Amino acid sequence: MPNTLDSSYYETSIYKKGIFDGKVVFVTGGAGTICRVQVEALVLLGANAAILGRRTEATEKAAAEIQQLRPGAKVIGIGGVDVRDVKSLASAVDTTVKQLGKIDFVIAGAAGNFLSHVGGLSARAFKTVIDIDLLGSYNTAKATFDQLRANKGHILFVSATLHYIGLPMQAHASAAKAGVDSLMRTLAVELGPLGIQSNAIAPGPIAGTEGIDRLLPEHLAKRAVELVPLQRLGTTTDIANATVFLLSPAASYVTGTVTVVDGASWQLGEPSTSDPELYPGVISKLNEGDNKL
Ligand code: HXC
Repeated sequence: MPNTLDSSYYETSIYKKGIFDGKVVFVTGGAGTICRVQVEALVLLGANAAILGRRTEATEKAAAEIQQLRPGAKVIGIGGVDVRDVKSLASAVDTTVKQLGKIDFVIAGAAGNFLSHVGGLSARAFKTVIDIDLLGSYNTAKATFDQLRANKGHILFVSATLHYIGLPMQAHASAAKAGVDSLMRTLAVELGPLGIQSNAIAPGPIAGTEGIDRLLPEHLAKRAVELVPLQRLGTTTDIANATVFLLSPAASYVTGTVTVVDGASWQLGEPSTSDPELYPGVISKLNEGDNKL
């Protein structure tokens, strides 16, 4: 028997409606742009979803809007959930299981960030971002573990490319995301025997996200397109498509990996490293003993 492809498999496109019928996704940071479009795609393709966030109003609004994408979808918003607080996560898992029956996919997307050089970072500021991004990812994995095990689920971490280089102004977030990648790999190895997949997606500069709209200084945001080898900002569809692939049966042998969706921008150097004003600006401020940029 030649080792040929099963052609019937390709009748099930990964973007075919219903591919995620019966699946339930549990997402932290679900009201933010990146996680929101990830969930939108999964819901459009059949999944039900629980969206968690600290801000109740924003979380419930996002859930109600996503629900409208597909008649029959069940999408719940659970506000007041801080990934630093294990009790609020445990309660959200209970609510999700009660209302949606189970959890198959976890998207650990809650993150916090700001630009600051090391001189401007207090220990509490550094710890705050580590606690949200890294400890929060760990807390999310722990809180959902029983469900992941019961359903041979998949945990997808939202990582970044910040830590691939020595990116200025991002000591806190880079350290946190390096830890997230490491956690993701360990979970792939430890939980693989239970049938659980663990992967990460690392978005680059995506139009309409906080990273571009709030964090990048305006002159850098304007130059961002020139600094991407593919010569465009990423779109939310780019992120959604990669997410659909990773969580679909097409990626059933993919675990322990980071899928970078960035137009190769980190390989050229993130905007802030190549910007003539920003990096020299950091150095001169540090030399002046100035703690604030
Ligand atoms: C230096 C800062 C700071 C800044 C806050 N801190 N902003 N230090 N420069 N710009 C310090 C505070 O002074 C305080 O330390 C400590 O951080 C904690 O601040 P709080 O406001 O008490 O924390 P909290 O209310 O928990 O808010 C967390 C947060 C906030 C991260 C600071 O911005 C947040 O909640 N963000 C969530 C949304 C978000 O940031 N999303 C972006 C994700 S984008 P002291 O010592 O003074 O008490 C992303 C992609 C990255 O992750 C792309 C990069 C380009």
